[in-house]
Amino acid sequence: MDLYEYQARDLFEKYGVPVLAGITADTPEEVRAAAEKLGGVTVVKAQVKVGGRGKAGGVKVAKNPDEAFEAAQSILGLDIKGHVVKRVMVAAGARIAQEFYFSVLLDRANRSYLSLTSVEGGMDIEQLAVEKPEALARIEVDPNTGIDEAKAREIAVAANFPAELVDKVAAVFVKLYEVYDKEDATLVEVNPLVLTEEGEIVALDGKVSIDENAGFRHADHAALEDKSATDPLEIKAQEFDLNYVKLDGQVGVIGNGAGLVMSTLDVVAYAGENHGGVKPANFLDIGGGASATVMANGLDVILGDEQVKSVFVNVFGGITACDAVATGIVQALEILGDAASKPLVVRLDGNKVEEGRAILVAANHPLITLAETMDEGADKAAELAAK
Ligand SMILES: Nc1ncnc2c1ncn2[C@@H]1O[C@H](COP(=O)(O)OP(=O)(O)OP(=O)(O)O)[C@@H](O)[C@H]1O
Ligand SMILES: [Mg+2]
Repeated sequence: MDLYEYQARDLFEKYGVPVLAGITADTPEEVRAAAEKLGGVTVVKAQVKVGGRGKAGGVKVAKNPDEAFEAAQSILGLDIKGHVVKRVMVAAGARIAQEFYFSVLLDRANRSYLSLTSVEGGMDIEQLAVEKPEALARIEVDPNTGIDEAKAREIAVAANFPAELVDKVAAVFVKLYEVYDKEDATLVEVNPLVLTEEGEIVALDGKVSIDENAGFRHADHAALEDKSATDPLEIKAQEFDLNYVKLDGQVGVIGNGAGLVMSTLDVVAYAGENHGGVKPANFLDIGGGASATVMANGLDVILGDEQVKSVFVNVFGGITACDAVATGIVQALEILGDAASKPLVVRLDGNKVEEGRAILVAANHPLITLAETMDEGADKAAELAAK
C-alpha cells in the first residue's frame, strides 16, 4: 500500500525525521485558513499517489494566504496522470540551499535491501539513473544490521556528500531506516531531502510503501488506507477475503488458483475478439477451498458489477474436487436467488469431473451452461456477453 505524502510526513515526524509543519485541506477556504495558521511562505501540494506532481502543476509556492487560496483553486480538481486531486497539504515553506535524494527499498532481485542516494536530488530519479548513473550511490543494506550510524556514514560518503554534512545527513538516514524497518515498509523515499539556508537537513517530500502482508503487526496501518479511492467491489471482495481485481470488460471470471485465472483472462480476451471485442471483467481467484459460501461470495461480487454480462467459472478440481465445486455453484445460486440473473458458463476438469458435471446436469439450472473445454467455455461466455 502506497501512502500519501502527508501520511509519510506524519510517520517521519513520529520517528524524529526532521519535517516541516503540514496541514491537509480539502477546499480553498481550508487552505487559506491553514496558510494563515502556518504564517509566512507556504507550499500547496497535491496529495495524489503518483510522481511528478510538481511538473504537472500540483505543487505551488504561496507568499500569503490569498495566494494559497488561489493555488488551491488551481490544484484541487486537477487531473495528474489520471489521479484527480481531492486533497492538498499546505506545508511551511523551506528556504532551500541544496536538494538531495535518499531512498531505501526492498531489492527483490538480490533478496536484500538497497539504498539509493544522491547529492543531486529534486529531479526525476529515473532520469538521473539513466543520464548520470555515477551520481547515484547504490549501497546494499544487510537486513540483519540495517542502517546504523556507520552504515549511514558509508552511504553519505559514497554519495559524495561534503565532509561537513556527512554526520548530519547520516543521522537522518538512520531515522529514515527506522521508519522503513519498524513500519515494515518496502520503500521509503525522500526527494528532495534538503539542506536549508539555516543549515538544517529536512525531508520535504516523502513516499512510503507499506507491506500489507505485515498488517497483522500494525493495527494502525488499516487507518492509512484510503477507502474512497478503492473500488467498492474491491472493498467488498476484501471483506470476503477474496483475491479480486476489477477490470474493464464484460465477462466475469471465477477460477481456482492464480495461474489458472490468469490464463483464463487470456483465453477469454482471445475468444472475445470473435464476439465484438468483449473482454474479461475481473480477476477472481477463489483459491483452494471452493465451498458454496466462497462461490456465493465470489458470484455476489462479480454480479454486483454492472458491466458484467456473463460469467465464466473455470475450475480445476484438486484437493477440492469437482463435485464439491458443482454443489457449491448450485447452492450459491440458491443463496443468491434473484440477485443471480446473468448466464453462467461452467467448465470443470480434474478430480471427480464426471460427478461434478452430473450434479450440474441434474440441477438443470436455467442460467448454467456446461462447457467441455476451457476454449469452448471462454467462447460461449464471450458469445453470451456480446448478446
Ligand atoms: N515545503 C516546501 N518548501 C519549499 N519548497 C518546496 C517544499 N516542498 C516542495 N518544494 C519544492 O517543490 C519541489 C517539488 O516538490 P515535491 O518533491 O514534493 O513534489 P514532486 O517531486 O513534484 O512530486 P513527486 O515527488 O510526487 O514527483 C521540490 O523539489 C522543492 O524544490
Ligand atoms: Mg518529490
